[in-house]
Amino acid sequence: MLLALCTWPELAARLATTDAIVIPIGSTEQHGPTGVIGTDAICAEAVARGVGESADVLVAPVLSLGMAQHHLAFAGTITLRPSTLIAVIGDLVASLRRHGFRRFFFVNGHGGNVATLQAAFSEIHAEASLAGRTGGLSFAVHNWWDGAEVVALSKELYGDRCGAHATPPEIAVTQHLHLEAAAKTAELGAFNPTCGGFGDAADFRRLYPDGRIASDPALARPEHGARLLAVAVDEATKRFRAFLATGGA
Ligand code: NI
Repeated sequence: MLLALCTWPELAARLATTDAIVIPIGSTEQHGPTGVIGTDAICAEAVARGVGESADVLVAPVLSLGMAQHHLAFAGTITLRPSTLIAVIGDLVASLRRHGFRRFFFVNGHGGNVATLQAAFSEIHAEASLAGRTGGLSFAVHNWWDGAEVVALSKELYGDRCGAHATPPEIAVTQHLHLEAAAKTAELGAFNPTCGGFGDAADFRRLYPDGRIASDPALARPEHGARLLAVAVDEATKRFRAFLATGGA
């Protein structure tokens, strides 16, 4: 069930029986010459919606801007500073807490968000701890692309050509969801297995001139995207159920 398609009386009634919500978070950033700028937000939203359906849980609107400073040397990238994203997460959680939500399961589509999300959770916990009260909130982040089942299928489809950015799995999911719009072609340079080592956006562009990191997105196919999304939803749903059963951070 999508929060955006509920009325407030429907949500008030729902909150009598649940305190959990799924929050998709992505990024708006370059994904190599063939990947669309919205890739991370599109993928995270699709996986989160799938969890919403299979676990009958509310899904918040996707946070489509993330921490992507290292991609800013490529046209179209928009970033939030880590401090801004921490503030956004803080206000989002405080708003939802006011209504009765206590358990927050983030489905994340962008590796660059992970450290900032964890810092945001620590800020929220610190408020309660410093005030000497119990916050009663718990958080989890599930990176849809790095669960064991998605990794296994990605390996089966692409071997060692997945890489770390503008990967064929994420590109395939966008192709599956947006067949026409995401069917891009471009001349790709030679495969470069180098990974990591960048700091700011100028560093990143120097190390990865076309925006990819160790990936071969030309291998992506829409039909792969359908399979990957199904596995990702199944895996994320299991993680969500485990979060409900055992709690998070
Ligand atoms: Ni991505």
